[in-house]
Amino acid sequence: MTKKSALKKLRLGVLASHGGSNLQAIIDNCEAGRIAAEVCCVISNNKNATALERARRHHIPACHVCRSQFDSDEELDRAIVDILNQHKVDVVCLAGYMKIIGQQMTSRYRNRILNIHPALLPRFGGEGMYGRRVHEAVLKSGERESGPTIHLVDEIYDHGRILAQRKVPVLPTDTPETLAERVLKEEHRLYSETIDKIARGHINLDEYTGDTHE
Ligand code: GRF
Repeated sequence: MTKKSALKKLRLGVLASHGGSNLQAIIDNCEAGRIAAEVCCVISNNKNATALERARRHHIPACHVCRSQFDSDEELDRAIVDILNQHKVDVVCLAGYMKIIGQQMTSRYRNRILNIHPALLPRFGGEGMYGRRVHEAVLKSGERESGPTIHLVDEIYDHGRILAQRKVPVLPTDTPETLAERVLKEEHRLYSETIDKIARGHINLDEYTGDTHE
């Protein structure tokens, strides 16, 4: 048996609220064998999310789970954990998921939940920093570089250990839209590369590096 075929694929559960272009890049790279992983389920709080359609097109279980289906936040949290457990998910990838993650999930998947943020954390993160606002803040600051960050998720917004970052230039002519587009292209590459490194043991999610930012 070759070394490649002996490698166990990492089982991913992806949570996404909207378009899901990162999800699509991950699915495509998994299917092409470029990353040692497979997307086992996709969960969205938004029943109209294109992310759910993308999953269905690839015959991946697609679940719409939102607060109004449950009596409490705890029940919603439990339901999401149940779906992830049912699909034997090893690592959870947040890809434009606009809802806060519950405590049952952070404790069941401690150091196993990844998020992608469209700027270089620890700057330009925290509650309320998402989408266009992030890029506007970068442009306003006069920074000459931006780029995606992949980090572990804990109880605090955009706070967990940084696993990977990639820089792109900020151009004097940039608008939030042109900068977002440049960053998003790198997000698609960086998320898959990081997942593959985790699958191959090149990134150890349990390793304490002590550099979790404040
Ligand atoms: C990305 O910019 C990501 O950094 C942020 O949400 C956006 C999701 O985009 N967390 P898409 O739905 O994957 O296209």
